[in-house]
Amino acid sequence: MTEKTPWPVTTDRLVLRPARAEDADAMWEYRRRPDVDRWLSDRLAGLDAWRSFQTDPERLAATLIVERDGEVIGDLYLAVRDGWAQRDAAGRPHQDEAEIGWVLSPDHQGHGYATEAVRALLRVCFEELGVRRLVANAFADNEASWRLMERVGMRREAVTVRASLHRDLGWVDGVTYALLADEWAA
Ligand SMILES: CC(C)(COP(=O)(O)OP(=O)(O)OC[C@H]1O[C@@H](n2cnc3c(N)ncnc32)[C@H](O)[C@@H]1OP(=O)(O)O)[C@@H](O)C(=O)NCCC(=O)NCCS
Repeated sequence: MTEKTPWPVTTDRLVLRPARAEDADAMWEYRRRPDVDRWLSDRLAGLDAWRSFQTDPERLAATLIVERDGEVIGDLYLAVRDGWAQRDAAGRPHQDEAEIGWVLSPDHQGHGYATEAVRALLRVCFEELGVRRLVANAFADNEASWRLMERVGMRREAVTVRASLHRDLGWVDGVTYALLADEWAA
C-alpha cells in the first residue's frame, strides 16, 4: 500500500500519510472517547494496550494518519485484498479490492474533513493502487459513518439483519457500501 503511492497526499486542508508507531498516543486521545469507541471493533483497556495493538506491523501497515496543520485529527483504514473469485476463473483477481474505514476526532467533526480525506483515499485507491472495488461496513445505527459513505458516492449494497453483536446494543443490523472504479470514474 505505502510503496505504490508518493506519500504524503495533500488536499486543500489536510495531509494524509502512512501511520508510524509514534502516532499511537495521538490516536488514543480521540479513539478512547466513548462517542468514538462506541462504534469501533476494538475497545482497548488503556494506553499501553492500545500502543501494543496499534503498533502491530499488520495493523500499522493498514493505517493512514489524517493531519490538519500538523495535528493528528483522525485516521483511515485501508486493507487491500483479493476480490472473491471461483478458484478456476480465468484472470483471478489479485489485490484488486480494498476495505476502507475512518475515525475523526470529535473535536474536528462537522467540517467536512472526513469527506475530504476519504475522497482523497478513493483517488489513491483507484488511480494509484489500481483497486477495482472499494467496500466499507458500519453498524446501521452509525448514521454519521454511512452518511459519509453516501457523501463520497458509495452505493448501499447490503443491509444485514441482526448480523453483528454490539457490546451495548446487542445483535444489530449492519450496512455495506461499495464503489467500483468505473462508477467512480464516471
Ligand atoms: C464517521 C465520522 C468520521 C464522520 O465525521 P463527520 O464530521 O460527520 O464527517 P465530515 O468530516 O465529512 O463532516 C461532514 C459534516 O460537516 C459539514 N460540513 C461543514 N463544512 C463542510 C465542508 N467544507 N465539506 C463537507 N462537509 C462540511 C457537513 O454538512 C456535515 O455535517 P452534517 O453531518 O451535520 O450534515 C465521525 O462521525 C467519526 O469519526 N465517528 C466515530 C468513529 C466511527 O464511527 N467510525 C466509523 C466506524 S464504521
